[in-house]
Amino acid sequence: MINIALVGYGKMGKMIEEIAPKEEFNISGKYDVINPVKEHLKNNTDVAIEFSTPASVIENIEFLSSKGIDVVCGTTGWYNKSDVVKDIIKKNGTGFIYASNFSVGVNIFFQMVKNAGKLINNYPQYEILIKETHHTRKLDKPSGTGIRTAEYLLEGISRKDSFTSDSAEPAFNEINIISERITDVVGKHEVEFESDADTISLIHNAKSRRGFAEGALLAAKYIKGRKGFYKFEDVFSELIK
Ligand SMILES: NC(=O)c1ccc[n+]([C@@H]2O[C@H](COP(=O)([O-])OP(=O)(O)OC[C@H]3O[C@@H](n4cnc5c(N)ncnc54)[C@H](O)[C@@H]3O)[C@@H](O)[C@H]2O)c1
Repeated sequence: MINIALVGYGKMGKMIEEIAPKEEFNISGKYDVINPVKEHLKNNTDVAIEFSTPASVIENIEFLSSKGIDVVCGTTGWYNKSDVVKDIIKKNGTGFIYASNFSVGVNIFFQMVKNAGKLINNYPQYEILIKETHHTRKLDKPSGTGIRTAEYLLEGISRKDSFTSDSAEPAFNEINIISERITDVVGKHEVEFESDADTISLIHNAKSRRGFAEGALLAAKYIKGRKGFYKFEDVFSELIK
């Protein structure tokens, strides 16, 4: 049994609570802006799952780690401070795992994209395009997942060395990422390999936040009692064994 503290009890915190299997996880505390973990932490916590805000995440990590609690971090927007977080984790000798996208399906999609890039490298007749579609409340574009998709393709395709966004005329060496914002789309990412003869597509289409929550729980099992700073993508294949 893993005792979990939900640090940030918004859409993601609630989804994790809803799907966490009772025989494996005990939700031992729920904390948010009006019930801060720093003031109200209960003793029986093995792992904290942190989905709060960019403004609060570093302070939360620092506090949790100082209490010997391992952290799964889903909050985004702190990656320019990753050296600070690495130092905190090292100093306290705890475990930390993070992802900008905890979705199990997206991480499977990334593996497929990576392999597809290596394969398409041998076939110069194919042009490469990424499309990402999200709800209209999403402010950033291209999406972080769209950018990561481009990075995986660039690792394998030698005729491409950078990506561009919403370009009407991408250069030969660029992969174009087209962004669309449509009401009620949770998140769709698509890679198209197009030749004069045909189109080959890889698509990930999220139906809800459930996939993120499942990945965060997998990460909680992985990080409990483990020391060090981990990126979910890097240990994903080990995680799903
Ligand atoms: N990594 C992923 O897979 C993934 C998936 C979805 C969302 N996210 C990110 O996770 C974060 C949360 O997403 P959400 O959709 O649950 O947001 P949300 O707005 O629904 O919830 C945020 C919660 O954080 C709480 N909060 C604010 N300040 C806090 C503090 N000091 N301590 C503890 N809690 C505090 C708020 O009260 C609220 O309950 C965002 O950064 C979002 O971009 C990441």
